[in-house]
Amino acid sequence: MCGIVGYVGHRSALDVVIGGLRRLEYRGYDSAGVAVLDGDGGLAVERKAGRLGNLEQQLDAVGRDAFAGSAGMGHTRWATHGPPVDRNSHPHRDTSGKVAVVHNGIIENFATLRAELEAAGIELASDTDTETAAHLIALEYAEGPTAGDFPASVRAVCRRLEGAFTLVVAHADHPDVIVAARRSSPLVVGVGEGEYFVASDVAAFIEHTREAVELGQDQVVEISRDGYRVTDFAGEPAEGKPFTVNWDLSAAEKGGHDYFMLKEIDEQPEALANTLRGHFSGGRIVLDEQRLTDQDLRDVDKVFVVACGTAYHSGLVAKYAIEHWCRLPVEVELASEFRYRDPVLDRDTLVVAISQSGETADTLEAVRHAREQKARVLAICNTNGAQIPRESDAVLYTHAGPEIGVAATKTFLAQIAANYLVGLALAQARGTKYPDEVAREFAELEAAPAAVRKVLGTVDQVREIGRRFAQSKAVLFLGRHVGYPVALEGALKLKELAYMHAEGFAAGELKHGPIALIEQDLPVVVVMPSPKGRGVLHAKLVSNISEIQARGARTIVIAEEGDEAVRPFADELIEIPAMPTLLQPLVATVPLQVLAAEIARQRGFDIDKPRNLAKSVTVE
Ligand code: M6R
Repeated sequence: MCGIVGYVGHRSALDVVIGGLRRLEYRGYDSAGVAVLDGDGGLAVERKAGRLGNLEQQLDAVGRDAFAGSAGMGHTRWATHGPPVDRNSHPHRDTSGKVAVVHNGIIENFATLRAELEAAGIELASDTDTETAAHLIALEYAEGPTAGDFPASVRAVCRRLEGAFTLVVAHADHPDVIVAARRSSPLVVGVGEGEYFVASDVAAFIEHTREAVELGQDQVVEISRDGYRVTDFAGEPAEGKPFTVNWDLSAAEKGGHDYFMLKEIDEQPEALANTLRGHFSGGRIVLDEQRLTDQDLRDVDKVFVVACGTAYHSGLVAKYAIEHWCRLPVEVELASEFRYRDPVLDRDTLVVAISQSGETADTLEAVRHAREQKARVLAICNTNGAQIPRESDAVLYTHAGPEIGVAATKTFLAQIAANYLVGLALAQARGTKYPDEVAREFAELEAAPAAVRKVLGTVDQVREIGRRFAQSKAVLFLGRHVGYPVALEGALKLKELAYMHAEGFAAGELKHGPIALIEQDLPVVVVMPSPKGRGVLHAKLVSNISEIQARGARTIVIAEEGDEAVRPFADELIEIPAMPTLLQPLVATVPLQVLAAEIARQRGFDIDKPRNLAKSVTVE
């Protein structure tokens, strides 16, 4: 959601900002805009609804000469207040046109602020909450206690704003400075040679520098050609947290693939291997920034997993593993529901918050609620230093690398692997598994990347199936045990990419209602358990398939290699390598990702940027 880039340096700010916005496109947006300081007291602004291409055309039409300057900022907006039209696109300006603001997040007290501005005779030109900040900063700069002090004016306004926000502000009277502020929403500083950046995500400046500084909560940064200065909202000196980005430009590019998503599907073996690396040492499972002691893990009497979307599906897999290995009750809850139903939490509750972005507002609020209730929170996250891990007691990073495609793929597999690590760490601390059993489970996990690589060898067959079913009206997905979350994930991928009606069901539920949906030629994807490990379930699923086949459905069956019993019931059979029961989602999910991507492509959709969706959802 909303991408932000700010720049002061020696290059064309317009080029840097547009390049940065391109790299942030994955976050999802519906309009874009730029502002450039020309160094002579001029502040040129252009904004346009729709894709970045529309903005670029507009810049060509008005002439890019007006945007010559080496300080500026840009924004991609995901509409919250007001529709995605030109006048609501960022940057927003004050009445004089000297102050420009771009913003990510929501200013919750904006109605009060807007009323105050209107009462003072200021006419607002947009429906947004952001515009109020532009006017307030201009007023503060003109007549506040720190009049004429640009950063101090921004700080004064930040102290009045409620909600989560990142603001980046330019002032025509200060052509060599960009000021940015952060509360809860993401903001990082890029540190180059005689050039500095601010952005929602390091991807925006990775082609210029890998040196970055993560800003803390309620901090303001001023960047100029000479450096950067961090203060808190009161103006006291503060420090960000410097870090070096451990991936480079190539990781943020398509590398010969038509889409990022296809590249990311291919990267899954490495994502898994990197997530597992270093977590078994000296015969023990070790987690990352583990600020929970073994005693803390022994004290746990209940686990809640909170997450959204795909991350939630990974949490459903975690339930099977943790309950089985640790004999601990596990509840998996949609983060958006969690805090509104007054869950029973105390200091012996472990809340596992899963989020690839670490920015998801629903999950963040669930974490805050859990901590208020004294529960301990362990975050599983793919983004270094994001807000959710910052606010958690402990963090386990997935090392899937940047995921640009809006649909989660490699982060899903990495989350499942991280969940298993948490399960094994709990089992180890609580003694529900002997050390040699933990070592054996970890060794099985370590074999998973090779198994996923093998599945990737079958994508041509899956794509062919996708082509055959691309024009279907709906698709059902069925699974049992850990195959059930896989079915849910397969349906979610198809919905978000191909805009098709897709539903995942626990296969046992079929006869309790969904079987009424079965009709002639309806494609039904079935995730089969192994005929060995869960023989009873296998037999039950075979019966379920025969019931749906008898009613005319077309079955697409994902089954273990050599599963002859299911063959007669499969109109299409996709074979996956044999895996230990709990680990099967790591291989069974992959064909479903490929299937959804292919169906979406056949229907002519951009699989990296599905409509209406954002990569990180920073509003509740
Ligand atoms: O960044 P998060 O993992 O917290 O995101 C959660 C969901 O928004 C995300 O998984 C979403 O469902 C994906 N688009 C699914 O592909």
